[in-house]
Amino acid sequence: VDIVICLGIEGTAEKTGVGIVDSDGNILAMQGCQLYPEKGGIHPRIAAEHHAEWIPKLIPKAIEEAAINYSDLDLISFSQGPGLGPALRIVATSARSLALSLNKPIIGVNHCIGHVEVGKLDTGAVNPVSLYVSGGNSQVIAYESGRYRIFGETLDIAIGNCLDQFGRETGLGHPGGPVIEKLAKKGNYIDLPYVVKGMDFSFSGLLSAALRQHQKGADIEDVCFSLQETAFAMLVEVTERALSHTQKDEVMLCGGVSANSRLREMLKTMSEEHGAKFYMPEMKLCGDNGVMIAWLGLLMCKEFGPMDLADTGIIQR
Ligand code: KG4
Repeated sequence: VDIVICLGIEGTAEKTGVGIVDSDGNILAMQGCQLYPEKGGIHPRIAAEHHAEWIPKLIPKAIEEAAINYSDLDLISFSQGPGLGPALRIVATSARSLALSLNKPIIGVNHCIGHVEVGKLDTGAVNPVSLYVSGGNSQVIAYESGRYRIFGETLDIAIGNCLDQFGRETGLGHPGGPVIEKLAKKGNYIDLPYVVKGMDFSFSGLLSAALRQHQKGADIEDVCFSLQETAFAMLVEVTERALSHTQKDEVMLCGGVSANSRLREMLKTMSEEHGAKFYMPEMKLCGDNGVMIAWLGLLMCKEFGPMDLADTGIIQR
């Protein structure tokens, strides 16, 4: 079979990414650019403007990095959702323009499954239960009975969003995750609400309670430690339930919050207690990137063929 080359465009949130991958799983190019909000969270319109500015700059850079010509591309892939509506529209429109101008097939793919599939490519995991945790998403995902299924997810905000909001409200800065991790190393436990309902978790009540403790004068290190322990235990419990339910023997951690070594340690311990192997992709592939979109595009196209241009609208959360 001939080798097929795919260019993927990512832009569901604040990161713009363009990646080029071949059907042997070689990463030919990985270009990205991140928007850093000055204050508050990510404004969907600002994120969209950032993609509109950067996608046209990153595509030629990726082509140059891969040392190929535009005509060598066989497929254009883009992240179709979930994500911020205005951002998704820019991504879909850019992908359509590129596909039309090059007269190449196009495919829209699911962002979350992109994280899982590039993780499998990078780690060699075959069929894991995945905990995907980022600024915008928190899900336990596994391929089961012929399709990807979400076994558990957040009922409100994502874990990364919870940490970032805590960081912003308490003056620790943005993103909060890395600072909280550092402070948590010196903390002691104080009681915070633990919320797992069925297979889902919730972080907004936990966030409010942590902020209240901070306002009441609790030690910041103690609040950071307890926030992490509580939130991560919730994530690990649901992953454990999914692992028991599916009887799989692999667990994978992916998404930006994978950077946290305490979460990694807790998930690895749980996995090993169940005799499951623990995997985590290289950190640069954990965050949002174009490579995962290109790779999933290739896999999906091989299985189902490309999309009709008329079906390439966005799927909003
Ligand atoms: O996947 P990602 O790069 O992009 C978005 O979803 O936006 O994830 C970013 C998230 C942020 O919420 C950030 O606070 C979190 O990952 N993060 C961490 C750590 N490093 C980054 N969370 C906890 N511990 C860390 N060391």
